Amino acid sequence: MKPEQRAPSVFHVKQDQRAPNVCDYEGSDYRQRFWTRERRYEDLAERQGLRRLLPPEGEAVADLGAGFGRLIELYQGYRRIFLVDYSRTLLQQARQEHLGDDRFTYIASDIRRLPLASDAFDTVLTVRVLHHLRDVPDAIAEAARVLVAGGHYLLEFANKRHLKAIVRYLLHRQGWNPFDKQPVEFAELNFDFHPAYIGHHLVEAGLRPERRLALSLFRLQLLKQGLGPRRLAGLETLAQPLASLYPLSPSVLLCSRADKPQRPRPGYFLACPYCHARIEMERQRAVCRACRLHWPEHNGIYDFKGPGQELY
Ligand SMILES: C[S@@+](CC[C@H](N)C(=O)[O-])C[C@H]1O[C@@H](n2cnc3c(N)ncnc32)[C@H](O)[C@@H]1O
Repeated sequence: MKPEQRAPSVFHVKQDQRAPNVCDYEGSDYRQRFWTRERRYEDLAERQGLRRLLPPEGEAVADLGAGFGRLIELYQGYRRIFLVDYSRTLLQQARQEHLGDDRFTYIASDIRRLPLASDAFDTVLTVRVLHHLRDVPDAIAEAARVLVAGGHYLLEFANKRHLKAIVRYLLHRQGWNPFDKQPVEFAELNFDFHPAYIGHHLVEAGLRPERRLALSLFRLQLLKQGLGPRRLAGLETLAQPLASLYPLSPSVLLCSRADKPQRPRPGYFLACPYCHARIEMERQRAVCRACRLHWPEHNGIYDFKGPGQELY
């Protein structure tokens, strides 16, 4: 097999048949199959990076594309924690581990149209999510909308300008150019992005990039096996300040601040995905009176995956 035909290591590439352009993790065993011991280093490196950039406390945090809640322990300083994901299966896994903890709210939804209130969240994160989106600007704009003025947006993205891609390109072993600014879809619904592309869309959405960290600097099988995850993650901390000046790493973490006028907090968190008016809860359904629509709540998960049903 020619090198350019080699399958990249992707997890899910199936599209949701009812919602084209959504990568469908419904019913998936993502946790068991992807987060094996082999990826312990990446997990540690991400947590380490997030700890450095994430404000440790606040009123409300929203993890968009939270999956099974891998990063939940980092949000313990927040009074309210919102986990949003398109997969009910993964949200249910997160919920099972925090039954009875009323700081958590679980929302099944597309992150490109959030059922969350504007100007309500101190911190928003998207980690390992944007690489599944064809329309990243829509997701970034939504993150910006729900943040309070000065709120933090932590965005992790898969970097197309990483060292391995550059070497492969220079050796003519890879067709796409890692320096080209446009995203590359290397497998169905799996994209790598150029840092300039992400930076441009952050600014467009009114987000001011402030800090950046190169992540997973040592994602090499040989190193992972030879040194082990902890030692590698330790080395990463040492190398990170220099490596982050011009990231050539497979993953990059950015921290941006919402540059918008100060507005009073709305005093609620759930809002209609269409008109952003307050959602009211009645008889296990979430209701938007303005649009005359409602969405179900099942087993502790607000389900905004569908378009909403009409109120009678
Ligand atoms: C690779 S997993 C990462 C999960 C988690 N952020 C983590 O780092 O462990 C990608 C997640 O993004 C979710 N996802 C993909 N596209 C989405 C969309 N349009 N709206 C909401 N969630 C989405 C998937 O359901 C999946 O849980």
